[in-house]
Amino acid sequence: MTDTTNRYLSANYAPVAEELTTFDLAVTGNVPAALSGRYLRNGPNPQSAVDPTTYHWFTGDAMVHGIRLRNGRAEWYRNRWVRSSGVAAALGEPDIPGETHGGMDTANTNVIGHAGTTLAIVEAGARPVELSYELDTVCRTDLGGTLPNGFTAHPKRDPESGELFAAAYHWAFPHVQYIVIGADGRVRKLEPITVPGGPMMHDMSITATRSVLYDLPVTFNLEAAATSNFPYSWNPEYGARIGVLPREGGDADVRWFEIEPCYVFHPLNAYDDGDRVVLEVVRHPRMFDHDRHGPNDGAPSLWRWTVDLGAGVVKEEQLDDRPIEFPRVDERVVGRAHRFGWAASLSAGDDVGFDGSDVVKYDHVTGTTQVHEMGRGRSTGEAVFVPADDGAAEDDGWVMSMVYDADTDRSDLVILSAADITAEPVATIHLPARVPYGFHGNWVPDGQ
Ligand SMILES: [Fe+2]
Repeated sequence: MTDTTNRYLSANYAPVAEELTTFDLAVTGNVPAALSGRYLRNGPNPQSAVDPTTYHWFTGDAMVHGIRLRNGRAEWYRNRWVRSSGVAAALGEPDIPGETHGGMDTANTNVIGHAGTTLAIVEAGARPVELSYELDTVCRTDLGGTLPNGFTAHPKRDPESGELFAAAYHWAFPHVQYIVIGADGRVRKLEPITVPGGPMMHDMSITATRSVLYDLPVTFNLEAAATSNFPYSWNPEYGARIGVLPREGGDADVRWFEIEPCYVFHPLNAYDDGDRVVLEVVRHPRMFDHDRHGPNDGAPSLWRWTVDLGAGVVKEEQLDDRPIEFPRVDERVVGRAHRFGWAASLSAGDDVGFDGSDVVKYDHVTGTTQVHEMGRGRSTGEAVFVPADDGAAEDDGWVMSMVYDADTDRSDLVILSAADITAEPVATIHLPARVPYGFHGNWVPDGQ
């Protein structure tokens, strides 16, 4: 299904039509023997025809791609639609077990391993969908009856406790839900947090002691559905606020701080600095304003917001003017001061997008950046850092990402040395098909 009138249905945004299973993938270079697990990545991949005039990239049926690595080999590649009722029906299969929630049924944004379970996850009210190790859909899940509503695509895992912290929203709720999931995979805390409207709250942050909510001016707007199938749009009158609360706090504990209107899908990281909270975020100047089919309203870049809890003010500073998205840190420093950050550079100009994107490494100690240029016709997406071992230094390990090659119309999983990303890849794992540009991925070591 390709349609050039909607960018998100054309070239490498267009969906693939087949589910594949391929064993013993060809590799250029050497897969590090220490890597034993799966690299998984989720993204939209409409299974049935959609209307190109209204199709919004965020609403496509979900497809998860996975590569299983072990003993220095790329054992398999699989891609599977995450079943919803609609996808199952279109494929002639019985409906999947588990109740839907809030009219939402498309878990297309992230895929994680938690408490031994693989979960495809999304914001806006849908249930997580449990997948098997081989990426077959098992069921929608309410986490053993502990999750009353929907979830988010962006839980933050505390590296010490292994708990997941999350902010979830649904258009019909007068609040957002602050959720903590234990290392056992069950919700142990859920607090409604009052917000003045219906914000699209894509992500959140944690520090070692606090949680941070981003209440920004993309809000529910039924009229938006007239021009796309996505009912959220830019609403600068809403204002923009950062909410800071103790990690074990609730609605009454939140302190709100006004900032300049903008939109943030993804923080890079956050950490405590005494009476200040340091937030590094990818800031978009606006969102879902002129382009109603995807995130394309000006170039996003890396900013630092320093929330001074004593003075009650936020210092906003741009760290780099390079267009980037999909920021990541070493999962072991989530909520703690980090030295390195990883991101995908984006094409600038009239349309912000993945074509020509490279992997960017930020070093906050030296103040420098390094770029791994993918080469002509090659484009990457989110880059995920994997440490060489549990005690490895912050850039001792690998960075992996999907790379699309327009010449071959196929994709590779590329593994770079994190300490020197400008070097030739450690391994390039050749996939049997292309992987459409999508959203988020993770390295899921066996057992996670
Ligand atoms: Fe995201």
